[in-house]
Amino acid sequence: MTDPVILTELRGDGERRTALVRLNRPKQLNALNDEVMDALGEALRRFDADPAVGAIVITGSEKAFAAGADIGMLSQHDFISAYTTDLVTRNWETIRSVRKPVIAAVAGFALGGGCELAMMCDIIVAADNARFGQPEIKLGVIPGAGGTQRLPRAVGKAKAMDMVLTGRMMDAAEAERSGLVSRVLPADKLLDEVLAMGELICTLGTASVLAAKECVNRAYESPLAEGMMVERRMFHALFGTPDQKEGMDAFLAKRPAKFVR
Ligand code: HXC
Repeated sequence: MTDPVILTELRGDGERRTALVRLNRPKQLNALNDEVMDALGEALRRFDADPAVGAIVITGSEKAFAAGADIGMLSQHDFISAYTTDLVTRNWETIRSVRKPVIAAVAGFALGGGCELAMMCDIIVAADNARFGQPEIKLGVIPGAGGTQRLPRAVGKAKAMDMVLTGRMMDAAEAERSGLVSRVLPADKLLDEVLAMGELICTLGTASVLAAKECVNRAYESPLAEGMMVERRMFHALFGTPDQKEGMDAFLAKRPAKFVR
């Protein structure tokens, strides 16, 4: 029997738990083929719909988060098949519709589609052995799952051009310096710390967590005035939730808040 290409489990012991999704093609450095992307999409949809889940973590192995799209799979395509089967669009972008926070815990290589998958997550936390890159230019193509768009937004044009045009890798320290990742952790602490982040998010108010994610994504995708309007209205709307009463009452009473779900 072949191993499943992704492994999923729920972690934490709170009322809501963190879903952990592990890419599981270690021998191929978690190269992303259709089977992986279909399974990942299905898991993300399932966890997003499950009220017992408050956050989702995607990780790989110690050696590779994912070394890119599966080059064997890509090599089978010509223009007609890529275009008519809607390569990438058909099964890589489920993550964009997930409303709960998704954190990428990246150890080892995050290259090509692996780097792009990490950048589709809401937060990237890196192990100190992480290496990021968009090496597609060396294969005679370019990034096809957002690398030319999300990388410049994360690290600026100069570094993005440098990486996309040369295919060089960036280590974890450079990735943190450049704003691609939020934190760098020792490799042996990565998963525990990221799961702790997930667990913390699980204790917060559902509506405020979803609203916070939605608003930050607006900053990324719309003009400032429109983003400000969305934030302001969302801020107003949250005053209609029990969580706002509880959060503020708890602070004033000097006790921990207990948010309803
Ligand atoms: C298929 C891959 C792979 C990939 C590694 N492997 N990356 N198979 N697709 N993207 C396989 C290798 O063929 C090898 O299989 C095994 O994993 C271990 O890899 P090695 O090369 O032996 O390991 P190492 O010497 O440590 O080098 C690691 C590496 C190198 C630097 C990450 O594997 C590498 O350069 N990989 C390709 C990276 C890349 O170009 N990614 C972009 C892909 S295009 P065997 O059977 O020999 O043991 C892309 C486009 C996305 O992502 C656009 C959206 C679809």
